[in-house]
Amino acid sequence: MLCRLRVNGETRDCAVVPHTTLLEALRYALGLTGSKQGCDKGDCGACTVVIDGESALSCISIALACEGRDIVTIEGLARNGIPHPLQDALDVTGGAQCGFCTPGILMSAWALLERNPRPSRDEIALALSGNLCRCTGYTKIIDAVELAASQSAERP
Ligand code: FES
Ligand code: FES
Repeated sequence: MLCRLRVNGETRDCAVVPHTTLLEALRYALGLTGSKQGCDKGDCGACTVVIDGESALSCISIALACEGRDIVTIEGLARNGIPHPLQDALDVTGGAQCGFCTPGILMSAWALLERNPRPSRDEIALALSGNLCRCTGYTKIIDAVELAASQSAERP
């Protein structure tokens, strides 16, 4: 079946079967491999994208059900080769984790800042609670989201 998705501001067509997940369509049909296939059952957050402004687990989202919705993936954060402030902030604070968990963490954080530009640390922790990494205490990641939020607030 033809599936027409709007991803990172572009309309993209791909061929799917009815049970193709959004993650499979993104990674294997559209070549957007930044969203990671971790547990593939809704537990880890590695596949997190943003759909209509809300963070969503693409491994348990059906691609065809996402037609007509606005999808943002990790590939959509940088603009003209310039990293998003969240990406810079992870670098500055030392909060960047591995390539499996970091894209999902960034997408959850991005969705949070889009709806709440100055979140509290508790709100940041709650927003990231679905992104699992056993290798971090999350402190530096929360520092990074706070830093990006403060820098966004300072921009005209
Ligand atoms: S890969 Fe989707 S939640 Fe783990
Ligand atoms: S899962 Fe990525 S650093 Fe722990």
